[in-house]
Amino acid sequence: MSQIKFPCNFLWGGATAPEQFEGHGHTGKSRTVWDKYYESFSNHFHNQVGPEVTSDLINQWKTDIQLFKKMKINSIRIGISWARFMPDGKNISQKGLEFYEKIIAELNNAKIRIVLNLFHFDMPLWAQELGGWENYDVINHYVKYAENVFKVFGNKVDFISTMNEPNVPIMGGYLMKFHWPLLVNNKKAFQVGFGTILAHAKAVNLFNKLFKKNVKAKIGTIINLNPAIAKDNINFSKNDLKAKKAYNILHNWSMIYPMVTGKFHHEVVNFAKAWNLMPNYTSEDLQEIKKVKLDYLGINYYSPTRVQAPQSKNPVNIFDKTLSYFHWNKARYNIWRGWEIRPETIYEIAMYIKKEFDNIPFFIAENGMGVENESRFRNSATGVIEDDYRIAFLQEHLLFLNKAIKEGANCFGYHMWAMMDNWSWRNAYKNRYGFIEVNLKNQTRQFKKSAWWFKTLAQTNQFDSKFKKVHEIIDLKNKEVEKLT
Ligand code: BGC
Repeated sequence: MSQIKFPCNFLWGGATAPEQFEGHGHTGKSRTVWDKYYESFSNHFHNQVGPEVTSDLINQWKTDIQLFKKMKINSIRIGISWARFMPDGKNISQKGLEFYEKIIAELNNAKIRIVLNLFHFDMPLWAQELGGWENYDVINHYVKYAENVFKVFGNKVDFISTMNEPNVPIMGGYLMKFHWPLLVNNKKAFQVGFGTILAHAKAVNLFNKLFKKNVKAKIGTIINLNPAIAKDNINFSKNDLKAKKAYNILHNWSMIYPMVTGKFHHEVVNFAKAWNLMPNYTSEDLQEIKKVKLDYLGINYYSPTRVQAPQSKNPVNIFDKTLSYFHWNKARYNIWRGWEIRPETIYEIAMYIKKEFDNIPFFIAENGMGVENESRFRNSATGVIEDDYRIAFLQEHLLFLNKAIKEGANCFGYHMWAMMDNWSWRNAYKNRYGFIEVNLKNQTRQFKKSAWWFKTLAQTNQFDSKFKKVHEIIDLKNKEVEKLT
């Protein structure tokens, strides 16, 4: 049987994130926007499960790393929680530091290479109360935090990432009300976007100036791409195409260009001017952004976004004003999340990165499939969740990623979201994403079938080219597609 082969030294692993895995613990972590949001509206969260315990990594990290070792992964993403590392924004917490030191040492002993991410939607509450990324003081606090991480861990990890999916807290917090502070304010959203890009640039420039020569870590960032498609990509109008462009401007191009190349995409600038959404900035800010230089890029890919000309009768946020989402009933959807399954897009993204970003080395930092009520798929004899649909999802995407690598895409690894089941923000534990099942009643862990499959992949760097597709394994039809949350 023919094999899909990956380059040697390819990174295989999965991602985690502090707020979604650790739980509060007792290290003196200060509150984050998620504690505030949950305390204010616990009913917005699936089954009213909040961020307090999540997957209890704070207590179970040793057992969990044993499991990761058993899976033979050669790399992992972990994150530092800013609120745990520097709870008051001024001083490093000894207990917080020790927690991360222990995890990092254990992973190093296990020869699992580390991607260390600094920010994953988890703004400390004190920083948000100062205005978040809108406020220069918060940006400078973040840079100080980043500097401390560079100092302490720059030689102990392989990759440092400034942030994960920088546009999501903006969409959620300032446009669509699914993150704190639950605002709808287009002008602020652009200001916060600019502040986010500036914070990233300042951290990267500081790293390049003071640390790059002396530490092992490389510097980069993790960006989510959901390329827009006009309707079914066959029958669409001029206005649908305009909507497609608006989505790419707002969601895809706004962040990746300035964060990777130091230059804003001209269409983003034109759009901001046309809608009177230009942020305030100084020429020094632009100089800072211009200087940015990354060693690598992480890309999160789950799905494309199909759009059409705006349909909303009462549009308020800039997305609704310029586009509407389009449900194509011939597409395959992950019905538990409402996300289309389209593996070809991972190929298109890889080729786009090659062309637009000077073939910068990149890895897939998140890709995966969250499924509700996975216990249905438990084998009653072995007790193992047989998540063949997840294996199929990975195979489908890896096949297309492999094609891109063969055509010169500079991809050096693949991380699934996620290593283990975890707290997915407002969705809490509704959909399960992990290779490893987490039982929330007693916090025990168990490999799903996909973990064993991935182990063989990580060991052999290849898989059979003959496999079943996701829809041949589970029924993706006959259910109403959920709204995005
Ligand atoms: C985020 C994760 C989240 C996952 C599933 C990604 O976009 O980075 O934090 O859990 O989506 O919703």
